[in-house]
Amino acid sequence: MAAQRLDGKACAADVEAELIGRVETLKAKGIQPHLAVIIVGDDPASHVYVKSKVRTCERLGIRSTHLELPSDTAEAVLRDHILTMNEQEDLHGILVQSPLPSHMNEEELTDLINPRKDVDGFHPQNLGRLVQGRLDGMLPCTPSGVMRMLRWAGIELEGKRAVVLGRSRIVGMPAALLLGAKGADATVTVVHSRTEDIAKHCQEADILVAAVGRPEMVQPEWVKPGAVVVDVGINRVEDSSRERGWRLAGDVSPEVENVASWLSPVPGGVGPMTIAMLMENTVRAAEMLSE
Ligand code: GUN
Repeated sequence: MAAQRLDGKACAADVEAELIGRVETLKAKGIQPHLAVIIVGDDPASHVYVKSKVRTCERLGIRSTHLELPSDTAEAVLRDHILTMNEQEDLHGILVQSPLPSHMNEEELTDLINPRKDVDGFHPQNLGRLVQGRLDGMLPCTPSGVMRMLRWAGIELEGKRAVVLGRSRIVGMPAALLLGAKGADATVTVVHSRTEDIAKHCQEADILVAAVGRPEMVQPEWVKPGAVVVDVGINRVEDSSRERGWRLAGDVSPEVENVASWLSPVPGGVGPMTIAMLMENTVRAAEMLSE
């Protein structure tokens, strides 16, 4: 039987509907949530993501500032922009789109962002709170979007075996922490490029979260029948049958649909949830900064 669709687009629409009310409440107090998105360089995929973030802001009544800097921008210039934005009272969220050009130190720049405006949840203070199990702060958007989507679909996590494929700072590690946190209560294994027998670990998963950035790596034989599979990958792969010459592929083979009980599509799964969580973090930042 084909897996049920973990419909991130539909879940994100529910999140957005709730946020519109919260934005209205803030506006009645004279506060408009305001997000700044900074992009450096001309990576085409990053520009697509940033435009989508800005468009979603417009839809929800959130003000956005979109700052585009050339790829040869000096790190000191970006640093100054961040420090200025930290002080700007009518600005509630700062997001620096990753990846940055190689001459910039992404971690040091993240350290500079005021943690209360860190809507990406990547500042060490926010990640540290997550490690402590304090889940009421700014949580990284993609992993918190995965958790929200699982909850929305009524998928039980308590006592289940969760395997996270990938250990990135942005997705894999925070996803593992959220799945294992009190309230979610899964038993978590993090699988990475040095893991022996990756397939064997995946086969034991009740919940499998694939976040490695390798197109269609997860094969149907890797998946336990009836498992829940969340595909975080967004990879461009060559496809000469398409006019544009490429198509989007996840980290999970489409054939997994015949084995899993739930599968998130690409596109339309985790992607819309990441943006919805960014919007929620921005609205929360505005609420907290106005208290
Ligand atoms: N690049 C890919 N995903 C993300 C994200 O969640 N935040 C930022 N800032 N950059 C990204």
